[in-house]
Amino acid sequence: MNLSHLQENNRRWAANRIAEDPEFFKRLTQQQNPEYLWIGCADSRVPANEIVDLLPGELFVHRNVANVVVHTDLNCLSVLQYAVDVLKVKHIIVCGHYGCGGVIAAHQNLRLGLINNWLRHIQDVAEKHRSHLDSLASEEERGSRLCELNVVEQVVNVSQTTVVESAWDRGQDLTVHGWIYNLADGIVRDLSMSMNADKKIGPMWQKAVEMLHHREPV
Ligand code: CO
Repeated sequence: MNLSHLQENNRRWAANRIAEDPEFFKRLTQQQNPEYLWIGCADSRVPANEIVDLLPGELFVHRNVANVVVHTDLNCLSVLQYAVDVLKVKHIIVCGHYGCGGVIAAHQNLRLGLINNWLRHIQDVAEKHRSHLDSLASEEERGSRLCELNVVEQVVNVSQTTVVESAWDRGQDLTVHGWIYNLADGIVRDLSMSMNADKKIGPMWQKAVEMLHHREPV
C-alpha cells in the first residue's frame, strides 16, 4: 500500500515548523532537553505530545498497552533509567485513560491471545481492589475505577524502581505524577498521587485510593 499521503503530511508538517521557527530542527539536532517523561497507553487516541501541547524535544515518551510499569520490563526500565540518569527529567507522568481497551479486557477477562499475559498485571490490580470494585453499581463504573486504580498502582511501581529510589537517595529533584485522560472531553485529571523523595509511598497510596473511593464515577 502506498503511504505517499503520510509523506506529504510529513513534508507539510516540517515546512510549517520551519516557517514558524527557522532554527527549529537545527536546534534539535544538537541535543534533547526534555523536563518530562511520559508513561502512557499505546492507544491511538491518547497522543502524548498533543495532549499536553509540547513540541518535539520537550517530552520523553514510553507507551505500552494500558500504561503498565513492570519491574522486569527491560524496555520500560531502560527508558526510565535514561530519562532519569542521563536526561535528568524533573517529572515522570504516568497517564492512563478512561475507556482503556487493555484495562477493560483485563477486567472482563476477554481472551485475546498473547496480550492476556501482559494484562495479568492489571488483573492483579483488580484483585487488590476487589471489594471496592464489587461495591460499584455498574460494569462501566467498575471499568473506569480500574483505569484510575491502575494509574495509582503504576505510580507506586515507578517509585519503587531502583532507578527512582537511587535518584531520590542522591537528592535529585524528581516527582512522579498519576494522571488520567478523558477521551470524551480531552481533559487530563490529576489523581493526587504525586510522589517525591519527601513522601512515603504507603500513606500517599492510602490517600489516593481513599480519594478515589469517594469520587463520583466517570
Ligand atoms: Co489504553
